[in-house]
Order: sequence, then structure tokens, then C-alpha cells
Amino acid sequence: APRVFSGIQPTGGLTLGNYLGAMKRFVDMQDSGVETLYCMVDMHAITMPQDPDNLRRATRELAAGYLASGLDPKKSILFNQSQVPEHAQLGWIFNCVARMGWLNRMTQFKDKAGKNRENASAGLFTYPSLMAADILVYHATHVPVGEDQKQHIELTRDIAAKFNHDYGVDFFPITEPVIEGAATRVMSLRDGSKKMSKSDPSDASRINLTDDADTIALKIRKAKTDPDALPSEVEGLEGRLEARNLVNIYAALDDSTPEAVLKEVGGKVFSEFKPMLSELAVAKLSPISGEMARLMEDTAEIDKILGEGAAKARKIASPILDKAYDIVGFVRS
Ligand code: TYM
Repeated sequence: APRVFSGIQPTGGLTLGNYLGAMKRFVDMQDSGVETLYCMVDMHAITMPQDPDNLRRATRELAAGYLASGLDPKKSILFNQSQVPEHAQLGWIFNCVARMGWLNRMTQFKDKAGKNRENASAGLFTYPSLMAADILVYHATHVPVGEDQKQHIELTRDIAAKFNHDYGVDFFPITEPVIEGAATRVMSLRDGSKKMSKSDPSDASRINLTDDADTIALKIRKAKTDPDALPSEVEGLEGRLEARNLVNIYAALDDSTPEAVLKEVGGKVFSEFKPMLSELAVAKLSPISGEMARLMEDTAEIDKILGEGAAKARKIASPILDKAYDIVGFVRS
């Protein structure tokens, strides 16, 4: 049976990229009737230095973001990774399956470690083994993510295939990444060749899920564009990175496609299109940030949801981990 798993790092500051590339699509999948598990990957977060109080707050805020976007703990299993120890347990086995050479090729490691690789945590290097465990400890078949996670899902497939091959079993499924929709790679508002990211030093480069209406409008008004009118067909966006990005954002927010959006707005200049985009963004995002703030007033309720989600997640993960232990040859008594 199909099973969906995905995760987001609670490192503070959810962006429009996280929302359109991931969270909004988590909700779509939840409502399509398949079994869905969505995780706050706090153990991945500490691969980079985190202040403990900030990590706690960011984990609860991410949970609030999930709930405010429309994830329903009655329909989806929502939990934080560290409350399900089976992830780390299977992650260790996968550290022994993954090859140094595979991990060495990961672009996220190269980006995050920067120039000073000697000083990066070992956890940052083996991050993808734990990510593979997140997915495979549930035998998840589909993983909705943004484009930037594609390489990690390919590694997950390689790990599953090598485990199956080395132990002569057909145990772990070969998971499919689900990278769909108009906003699989939302770009910076200041530079259409860079990904929108919570770690960009310029706050004007991104829209945060917690930005108020005026801030959203201001950031869109100041977003980099070109002087030309919008084309009426997508081919006309060729080489116009910033224009393409704003059209993609509009389409994703509106559950539409770039083609359909351009049919409507082709011929408009940015001074006409930007206010339309602001209005749409505020209409879609304000209810979410309002609800997030409301939910954050009762963190005990959030913690309760995460605890209950973790218990449900463990029910699925535990027998799969037991089987993996048996396959590997660990004595269980
Ligand atoms: P993270 O926390 O960096 O991002 C969470 C999700 O948001 C997507 N995303 C974007 N999508 C479109 N445009 C953008 N500008 C943009 N920025 C971020 C990401 O692609 C991701 O889907 N390694 C993962 C977390 C993880 C995970 C997993 C995901 C850990 N275990 C298992 C799936 C399955 C990460 O760092 O995502």
C-alpha cells in the first residue's frame, strides 16, 4: 500500500519555499486518502549548532505551521523525530550501508559545510543516512519534497537497493520522490538564480510564513524584476528568472499552473502584476500565520499532539526495525 512520509527541519523561520514546496503539498496528499506521516526532524536540526530553547520553540512552531496549513492529527501522523528512536536505530545500520563516496557527493553537505569541512559535524556528513532511515523505517513509498531534496531521495533509493542486495532480501521499497507543482524550487526575491532560503542573510530575499500583510506587500513590491511586460506564454519567460519565479509563486498559491496564470496576466507590467500577487499571497498566508500564533499560545496542546503522533509512528516503525535487526543478524531476546 502507498505510504507517504516527509519531514522539515525545525530550524526556525519557515519560508514561502517550505510552504509551497512542501507543506501545502503535504496537505494535498493527506486529503487524497493515503496514509501520511509528517515529521519535525529535530535530530537533523542539530547537525548544525542549535540553541536548545530555540530548538524547542522552532519544533513547536513548525508543528503549529503544519496544523495551521491544514494538517489534521486525525488524518496524518504528526510527530518530532527524536520521540521515535527507531529512526536513529535504523540510521546506524544505514551508516554502515552507505558508502563514503556516496555521501561525499551530496551537494547539501558541501553547501552547509562550506569551506571549513574539517570543522563540520560528523552528523552533517551522515545526515542522508538518517534521512533514508526516516523514510524507510515506515516502508514509505512516496516522499513529497522540493527539488533541492531530490539527491537525498536518490541516495535513499541507493541505500534501500544496497541493503536488499547485500542481505539477499526484498525488504525495503525503492521510494519515489514526489516533486510536483509550480513551486518545486521557489527562488530568492532578490536574485532569481538563488533558492529562497531561511539562511539567506537578506530577509528581503524571502517571505516568511510569519510575515504580516504589510511586510509581504513590501517584499513583493521590492522584489527584483525586469522592465518588460509579462508574456502570455511560458516560453516567453525563458531567461527571465525573476519573472518566472513570481509567476510560479502566483500559480502555486492559486492552485493553478504558470500557463493558466499567463493567459490571465500576459501583457501586464510588474507594477500591475505585483499588487495582484501581494493580494493573493496575503489572502493565502495571513490565515496561516494568524492560526500559528493562536496555536503557539497553548504549547501543551502541541506537545500532546506530537506525543500521540510519536506513539502511532512507533507502532509502524517498531516491527519494521525488528525485521531489519533480524536480517542484519542482531540477537533480540
Ligand atoms: P528542509 O527543512 O530544508 O526543507 C523542508 C522542505 O521544504 C522544501 N523547500 C523548498 N521547496 C521549494 N522551494 C524552496 N525554496 C524550498 N526551500 C525548502 C524542501 O525541499 C523540503 O521538502 N533534508 C530535509 C528534511 C528531511 C526530510 C526527511 C525530508 C529529513 N528527513 C525525510 C523528506 C523525507 C531538509 O533539509 O528539508
